[in-house]
Amino acid sequence: MKFTTKRPALAALAALAAPLAFAQPNPALIDNKPAFVADLLRQMTLEEKVGQLRLISIGPEMPAAQLAEEIAAGRVGGTFNSINHKEQRPLQEAAVNRSRLKIPMLFAYDVLHGHRTSFPIGLGLASSWDMEAVRLTARTAAVEASADGVDVTFAPTVDISRDPRWGRTSEGFGEDPYLVSQIARAMVQGFQNGTPAGKVLGRDSIMASVKHFALYGAVEGGRDYNIVDMSPMRMYNDYLPPYKAAIDAGAGGVMIALNTVNGQPATSNTWLLQDLLRKDWGFRGVTFSDHGAITELMRHGVARDEREAAKLAIKAGVDMSMADQVYLKELPGLVKSGEVPMKTLDNAVREVLGAKYDMGLFHAPFLRIGKAEDDPPDLKADSRLHRAPARDVARRSMVLLENRNRTLPIAKGATVALVGPLADAPIDMMGVWSGQAVWKQSVTLRTGMEKALEGQGRLLYARGANVTEDKAIVEYLNFLNWDEHEVVQDKRAPQEMIDEAVATAKQADVVVAAVGESRGMSHESSSRTRLDLPESQQALLKALKATGKPLVLVLMNGRPLTLNWEKANADAMLETWFAGTEGGHAIADVLFGDANPSGKLPISLPRSVGQIPTYYNHPRLGRPFTPGKPGNYTSQYFDEPQGALYPFGHGLSYTDFSLSDVTLSSARMPRGGKVEASVTVTNTGERAGETVVQLYIQDVAASVVRPVKELKDFRKLMLQPGEKKEVRFTIGEDKLAFYNAKLQYLAEPGEFKVQIGLDSQNVKEQGFELK
Ligand code: NOJ
Repeated sequence: MKFTTKRPALAALAALAAPLAFAQPNPALIDNKPAFVADLLRQMTLEEKVGQLRLISIGPEMPAAQLAEEIAAGRVGGTFNSINHKEQRPLQEAAVNRSRLKIPMLFAYDVLHGHRTSFPIGLGLASSWDMEAVRLTARTAAVEASADGVDVTFAPTVDISRDPRWGRTSEGFGEDPYLVSQIARAMVQGFQNGTPAGKVLGRDSIMASVKHFALYGAVEGGRDYNIVDMSPMRMYNDYLPPYKAAIDAGAGGVMIALNTVNGQPATSNTWLLQDLLRKDWGFRGVTFSDHGAITELMRHGVARDEREAAKLAIKAGVDMSMADQVYLKELPGLVKSGEVPMKTLDNAVREVLGAKYDMGLFHAPFLRIGKAEDDPPDLKADSRLHRAPARDVARRSMVLLENRNRTLPIAKGATVALVGPLADAPIDMMGVWSGQAVWKQSVTLRTGMEKALEGQGRLLYARGANVTEDKAIVEYLNFLNWDEHEVVQDKRAPQEMIDEAVATAKQADVVVAAVGESRGMSHESSSRTRLDLPESQQALLKALKATGKPLVLVLMNGRPLTLNWEKANADAMLETWFAGTEGGHAIADVLFGDANPSGKLPISLPRSVGQIPTYYNHPRLGRPFTPGKPGNYTSQYFDEPQGALYPFGHGLSYTDFSLSDVTLSSARMPRGGKVEASVTVTNTGERAGETVVQLYIQDVAASVVRPVKELKDFRKLMLQPGEKKEVRFTIGEDKLAFYNAKLQYLAEPGEFKVQIGLDSQNVKEQGFELK
């Protein structure tokens, strides 16, 4: 009796004590993720669960020592912005040695287009149409970032952007759902080294967190953080595919967008985060709110106070809260009161623990931090860079827009005048979101050209202009300031600089003007109403033109610019975007013909801001503008020529290519069958070069209005002079299917046009019928 009365009491005590006494990840379960995570979850207190959802940054509000204490108390799940082993090691030690449950921290960072080595910005990578090159950049970035202790990147940015006023156009991969989806896949594969969802990443891989879910690139008017209101059909057909492609490729994370989606902020959008992401797409990974987004639910006007904001976000499916403290403050009370079921909290915590498991952190918490004795002596050492791939990819990312009279390539024996505010601009060369790239390590165009001409021609240099003389803009860019000298202003009078540039040009055989934007002009929060070159640069170009010397424009910018005067007056124009650490060498390689440009525009370039949007794959109209016919009562702007200044897919080469007519294997496709479309490409010029053969399809008559054409496949290939190659595209129903008015994804029977070209407008056409 005595024995039996004591037993229940002891058992109850033991049950109470169990989580405390034995609390820690159970190594015996390490090979069974669901059991391992469930076991850990079972041991966690409410506060510890909430702590796992907190993602914070070391900074003035949270000095490192205080952060370590917070971690030891089980109140932090991870940090972002800490990429220094010396900083991370004590934090991870606090987690795995001092916190009750020993749950490791995760370290996140924005690794976008490189990490220590900067590769071209997103638009540049997209211009390569080279998926191996894109994959290589993400792989290289992962190797560098993981060596800095990074476990997860907030990338890739796959927001379709059709309004270049939006500053983050630079960060994404352009206007086309198919191309961006291919890139999304390649980036995820690169970051994760091909590791699929739910498998444990290796030491030199980092988890990809695709962003910004969803539709961030469609903010109204291109004004950052503005609303998005969009029909479901457009959403499904045009804007959602790239996020889905990243997830299908195995992305372990998703960052939620700051904007609203049809009246509901993404951060509290249950349809988006539950129904679409988790139920329809089957995503099993971690979601991150964007910086402060949960707090912003109050400003959006959907939450009365922080308590309601926290409740909306957790219920919608936001797992980790970035930078705001509302989960920490409010979730315990919300769970205790029953307003938020424990199950809802558990779901979020399970995803965070699962992501940490997939990052390999439970197997080895110091996997990417390593041992102190192995710390690189100098984090910024040049030996840590990958310069060769950076130069190679940058060469591939440039688009030759114009080349009259074969002005390019320039002979190496020439005397070249290099002018322009971006000719010697190492910070701008890196582009924004350039990770841990060091501007002093980036090669400017001036350096690249000097090196290329060494012992042969002569390089003369004059700055010629500042990027802009608009003081308010300079002040704004300096306010964004990520670096010590964000905007470099020459104090001389603008005319004095122009006079010097003109005098320099007069001594040269050819003038190269490096013009465009400073990098901060194409960034988060950097929307523009005008897309022309700032006046200071226009004045410089006009003065250079008046010298009568051949004028080559090297454009550096993070979004499509309106280049009407430039197109009419420049002899050659090379769009280089922001080309990264090795940009100067790569551009010089192209200018002097050591590399033959092969990039194609991933986004159309408009003639004016008023003409936006100019995306090529717009839905068909009842009164389309028809070239060559009188323009009355058709859809047009009567005060400007129609169509993009340079269309999607455009890009010249130093050689010429011709394309045969299209041959189809059959004029009929049975259900479940295939049709093969083939063309022969010939290099008709005198040097080897690469081009991109592009396959477009039009659904001739469907149940809903469909685009005039849509990119469905492409092939980049190298041809020697005189060489011919046949390119075959296999067309199955997947290339014909779309989301109809009921959001069913299917291919409707009927006629389809197949168009193949070297850009989106000059195409050869054939038709077939789907039975
Ligand atoms: C805000 C940006 O919108 C997002 O893209 C980024 O990942 C976070 N800040 C963290 O830096």
